[in-house]
Amino acid sequence: MASQSEVEAAPTEVVAATAIRAFYEQHPYPGPVDTLDGQRAESNDRHARICEHHLFWPAEPFRESRSILIAGCGTVQAARHARRWPQARVVGTDISEASLRATRALKERYGLGNLELRLLPIEESEKLAETFDQIICTGVVHHLPDPDVGLEALRKVLAPNGAMHLMVYAPYGRAGVYLLQDYAQLLGLGSTQAEIRDFAAALKFLPKGHPLWPLLRNSPDFQYDAGLADALLHPQDRPYSVPEFLAFIARCGLSFGRWLRQAPYLPDCGASHSTPHHARLVALDAAAQYAAMELYRGTMLRHSAILYRNDEAGADTAISFEGAAWQGYIPLRLPETICVDEKLPPGKAGVLINPLHTDTDIYLPITAAEKRVVEAIDGKRSIAALATIERLPESGRALFQRLWQHDQIVFDASRRSAG
Ligand SMILES: C[S@@+](CC[C@H](N)C(=O)[O-])C[C@H]1O[C@@H](n2cnc3c(N)ncnc32)[C@H](O)[C@@H]1O
Repeated sequence: MASQSEVEAAPTEVVAATAIRAFYEQHPYPGPVDTLDGQRAESNDRHARICEHHLFWPAEPFRESRSILIAGCGTVQAARHARRWPQARVVGTDISEASLRATRALKERYGLGNLELRLLPIEESEKLAETFDQIICTGVVHHLPDPDVGLEALRKVLAPNGAMHLMVYAPYGRAGVYLLQDYAQLLGLGSTQAEIRDFAAALKFLPKGHPLWPLLRNSPDFQYDAGLADALLHPQDRPYSVPEFLAFIARCGLSFGRWLRQAPYLPDCGASHSTPHHARLVALDAAAQYAAMELYRGTMLRHSAILYRNDEAGADTAISFEGAAWQGYIPLRLPETICVDEKLPPGKAGVLINPLHTDTDIYLPITAAEKRVVEAIDGKRSIAALATIERLPESGRALFQRLWQHDQIVFDASRRSAG
């Protein structure tokens, strides 16, 4: 028989779930669009797909076909994936019919026969009665009444060699958001159009030093109603610091693969490389390094990571510069990266940037010899072969490790002949 406390607990969760569903029926996220044109990485961009594949599975040969679950897909994410991966089977789930309707319209417009949509809570993902090679769940589990229940349910439908992209909010960079969520609660603000309009007007007068300011200026979410409501008026929102995130995924049977973009978490990248603390930072274990960098940077808004089942993740998912296997890795330049040739530091011939980094201290100056090697990266030659182009120290190990740490390249480690 259920105890008194169990009887009282159940309705609270149901009330929360109902409030979240009602919120997303009223404010589908992101604001619905009627075109997929202009979205990053168009469907015919095979190189982008190869890079994405090896980001998730460095040691698995590239393949176009796979099953992808987009859990909590919102208005556009599932359609975007179905278009980018025409040979994949994509299933999008959400609890908001309004969001699914927006996705359905894109499906019809672009003839996305490989996309299936289901009105289904993440917590009930097992009802899909299949497992997926890839699960993408971004911006969702931190909104669930019990995030552990949601992530455990996703873990159950992750195929044995599957990989998951999970994104959750981070606390420190969003401090201003949480101040204003509490403020809204004190005022009893709801999320009607009139209340959102008034809130947007009040934010225009926010004192300049308020911690929300950088977000108001830079985040696209604050430029439209659904984004503003999602950030400031959400009925349920729980951020995770790095240690909380790592404990969360471990509790739910998942192991950490890598950060989607790792440079901000690494003391070897950006300003921390030059501080007197660098030696102390790199002496920490990896988890403590990530935690320290989150505290030092102070501006991280979210954590986006690639995860595996904890009963499957083997050495094959990890890139390593120990031993000799790294010489057989085939580097692939990420499509978004650029090389700047102006205002260079002395002795440098270029500065490599990944524009998806929001931290302006993360960039990689390279010499003329290094630049020639970087320009020779063709997705065919291994590190060992590329290192013969110039006399690089350590046969290129330091250069390719730095390129990888700085999110300039990923590796195809599926063909490990060092030639
Ligand atoms: C902030 S939006 C993110 C949408 C999308 N993942 C993206 O990154 O663009 C959160 C989405 O999760 C959905 N959602 C919330 N709780 C859910 C649940 N229990 N099961 C499935 N979807 C849920 C909402 O309806 C909404 O569409």
